[in-house]
Amino acid sequence: MIPYHIIILAAGKGTRMRSPLPKVLHPLAGFPLIWHVLRLAESLNPMRITCVISPDLQDFFSGSPHRIILQDPPKGTGHAVEKALENAPDLAQAPTLVLYGDTPLLTASTVQALLDLGGDMGLLTFRAPLPNPYGRVLCKDDGHAARIIESSDLSPEQKQNPDFPLNAGIMAFQAGILPNILPRLRPHNQQGEVYLTDTVAFIDGDGGCVRPLSVAAEEVLGINTQQELQTAETVIQAHLLKQHQDAGVIAGSSVVFSADTVLASGTQVHPYVVFGPNVRVDEGAIIHSFSHLAGCAIERGATVGPFARLRPGTIVGEASHIGNFVELKAATLGKGVKAGHLSYLGDATIGDDCNIGAGTITCNYDGTHKHKTTLESGVFVGSHSALVAPVTVHQGAYLGAGSVITKDVPKDTLAITRPALTTVPRWSQRRKKDTPSS
Ligand code: UD1
Ligand code: CA
Repeated sequence: MIPYHIIILAAGKGTRMRSPLPKVLHPLAGFPLIWHVLRLAESLNPMRITCVISPDLQDFFSGSPHRIILQDPPKGTGHAVEKALENAPDLAQAPTLVLYGDTPLLTASTVQALLDLGGDMGLLTFRAPLPNPYGRVLCKDDGHAARIIESSDLSPEQKQNPDFPLNAGIMAFQAGILPNILPRLRPHNQQGEVYLTDTVAFIDGDGGCVRPLSVAAEEVLGINTQQELQTAETVIQAHLLKQHQDAGVIAGSSVVFSADTVLASGTQVHPYVVFGPNVRVDEGAIIHSFSHLAGCAIERGATVGPFARLRPGTIVGEASHIGNFVELKAATLGKGVKAGHLSYLGDATIGDDCNIGAGTITCNYDGTHKHKTTLESGVFVGSHSALVAPVTVHQGAYLGAGSVITKDVPKDTLAITRPALTTVPRWSQRRKKDTPSS
């Protein structure tokens, strides 16, 4: 296959989202829309990826390995492609695939089919009910496209016509086409923008051939509104669920996945579990209902939840048990650790077979800095203990319930800080006698 260039269009105002967040940074299955498009583009292995962005995306793209071009102000999709090819004669001459940053559900196999179409240009089309805001593709008797009319430029009769294929926005141009056509595009339309879609009429007018490829609407859903974002989330969650189920994961439709969730075959995920980005679950683990996991690894045979919160940097070791209302943050737990109820373990290393009593808290923050708690293997932490970090509890030590541990505890000792129990004999009788009845 001849090396080709990918241009991702991600500038533009995204005003229809009505949100201060740039459109392409809205999250889908745990990652920004543009992340999905970048992942697809990278998987295709092109000669170069150029992203056309607005200034509000500069932070997201800082450190990106790709060519980043600022389009400010955005003057339309055609103008964006012109910007991408300005001062880059080699790229301008290469075959070019244009992807939209707001169209995240596209698959590599569809793109490959588009690239394989041949002709001077290929474009993806789909069908959707009227009314809709998409560009209409006008085709000739031979099936090739002659022109695209944007919905705002349609005549009243064209608007009512349900027969036009719709433009998905994804376009593949053969080598040398863009430098010939781009200088001829003009903003002669309702929006006053330079439309990339006008390339079709120029290519056809020059006697070239534009081949449409019809695909399922679901795959080329362009996200312009919060409702479309929600539709895309429903679609991607159904795909992710199917992929996990096909790989032997036991889960149902109320589970929320991230695009990168890794679950071993046989993992049981109970209803209403949410996976944020970067979670790995190994064989035989069970995640009970209403747990929220992000940035963590659950090792073989561990159980989590219900109602557990696992935050980034956490590893739950083999056969460990994390129960209800336990929060873990940057905590590395060894094998067979039990933390069954109501605890916060943050910035902690917890050795094999430790038992963490209900209500245990690592006091990891002194108001300025975070500090580490280390429990060596076999430590027993009595309920309602506070571990004031930095602190280390050595192997096999016991901490009495209700203790506040501010110093390191030696191996195999009992550490206890609560005051000794005092009892006052016959207290209730004395109290009744001393209290006058009203
Ligand atoms: C576009 C197509 C329309 C098609 C629809 C499919 C054009 C003129 N219209 O319309 O035919 O049916 O997609 O979803 O192409 N962008 C820039 N710079 C700009 C303007 C846009 O980079 O100056 C980017 C946006 O970030 C977006 C993409 O290009 O990712 C498409 O722009 P958008 O404004 O969403 O176009 P649509 O109105 O959806
Ligand atoms: Ca769009």
